[in-house]
Amino acid sequence: MKKGIFITVEGPEGAGKTTIFRKLGEYLLEEGYQVLMTREPGGIAIAEQIREVILDKENTTMDARTEALLYAAARRQHLVEKVKPALESREIVLSDRFIDSSLAYQGYARGLGINEVLSINQFAIGDMMPDLTLYFDIEPEIGLERISLHKGREINRLDLEKLEFHKKVHEGYHILLNQFSERIVKIDASKAVEEVYNETKTILMNFIESHSLQIK
Ligand code: TYD
Repeated sequence: MKKGIFITVEGPEGAGKTTIFRKLGEYLLEEGYQVLMTREPGGIAIAEQIREVILDKENTTMDARTEALLYAAARRQHLVEKVKPALESREIVLSDRFIDSSLAYQGYARGLGINEVLSINQFAIGDMMPDLTLYFDIEPEIGLERISLHKGREINRLDLEKLEFHKKVHEGYHILLNQFSERIVKIDASKAVEEVYNETKTILMNFIESHSLQIK
């Protein structure tokens, strides 16, 4: 039985979602909420091991369905070990990426089909869909340029994909925005960080306050 609030953060490369994600987590903690901040793929030992296989630059022969299944497997383990227990303890779970990444990257950009990837993910997660998804929107050209300027960042196998692939990821997220319009909120991530943060914080707090008589 789920009692907490499950919030996911999504976006193409270079949208700055991880920076905003950290700031939101710190803010919620300061406000006295019980918060679990986690990320995908990974967050726990088994899922981190799967993540290494998926993102290893040497694994150039990985089949697209294998990739989708590995993400779904990592997601399952992460959900069972980390997300579910926190929700059952009425925490707010903030996850940096979740199912929509698979739908946009594997389902749409890799061409496996959004509905096909949705169905393997339904097997993995059951009815544990996020309550709210904050989608950070950025044009792929700008996102990739931001990444190239961010020198300390580790480059993984998906980062090495061409601009064409990242354009499809972006398009895929826009399809999801329509398909799951009741759950996904779009945030313009091209603005300055402080502005993006303030806008996101307002959306998040309105959502939490309207859903959370029980959790503070
Ligand atoms: P990461 O270094 O965490 O990237 P980011 O900072 O952009 O979140 O690497 C995760 C990569 O995996 C990223 O390129 C998106 C991709 N991904 C998928 O393709 N499918 C998925 O289901 C998930 C969770 C991530």
